[in-house]
Amino acid sequence: MKRAFLLSYPCGAKMKISVILGHPYDKSFNHAIADVTVSTLKESGHEVSFHDLCAEEFDPILMGEELVSDRSDDELVQIHWNEIKEANGIVIIHPNWWGQPPAILKGWVDRVLRENVAYRFPEDDDGSGLPIGLLKARTTLVFNTSNTPEERENTVFGDPLERIWRDCIFDFCGVSNFHRRMFRTIAGSTSEQRQVWLDEARDMVCEHFPGKDR
Ligand SMILES: Cc1cc2nc3c(=O)[nH]c(=O)nc-3n(C[C@H](O)[C@H](O)[C@H](O)COP(=O)(O)O)c2cc1C
Repeated sequence: MKRAFLLSYPCGAKMKISVILGHPYDKSFNHAIADVTVSTLKESGHEVSFHDLCAEEFDPILMGEELVSDRSDDELVQIHWNEIKEANGIVIIHPNWWGQPPAILKGWVDRVLRENVAYRFPEDDDGSGLPIGLLKARTTLVFNTSNTPEERENTVFGDPLERIWRDCIFDFCGVSNFHRRMFRTIAGSTSEQRQVWLDEARDMVCEHFPGKDR
């Protein structure tokens, strides 16, 4: 993995953080994680771009015309391109659905993390070589939820979300400072347990995106 450039970011400085939520139900635990994430980042003084992809009706289908060009006629996609290019940090929040992100978030990856937005290949490369990551973001935090116990997830399924986000996506786009937390098992969890998880999410956000006073 090559990096186009390496930025150092002063600890406690105000950052632009993109928060992307892929979950259709506004009373879900994923929404609660998103609420805590956004409020914590704001309290820390950061500039937050929050996208609830389902609420904003993000269209996840990458059509042929867009695939073969560097442009999109979809204004929302253009907004996402501009934000993700400028983000100093990224937080992704979604449930484990069949070992993958929900389709709307998969479509966000397809349409937003495009060549020449999130990565590029060297001039003489046909696209089979090593990519050059273009994202400015230094740190990515992924919050997931699932109903599978950890041992079964690792031994039977191989934790595909870790490979997808860490290796296939963010390392490819040049963000190697990657952190992920899977909250489990959501089914049958008590409200006390959920509060402990939300406190943990808050702590992780503070740790990885420290504000002036933290
Ligand atoms: C379409 C679908 C697929 C799912 N696939 C998985 C899965 O592969 N592994 C798993 O542990 N849980 C799976 N689940 C359970 C969700 O991960 C779980 O309901 C969610 O994480 C709970 O968080 P929420 O209350 O915010 O929705 C699936 C749920 C749905 C609706």
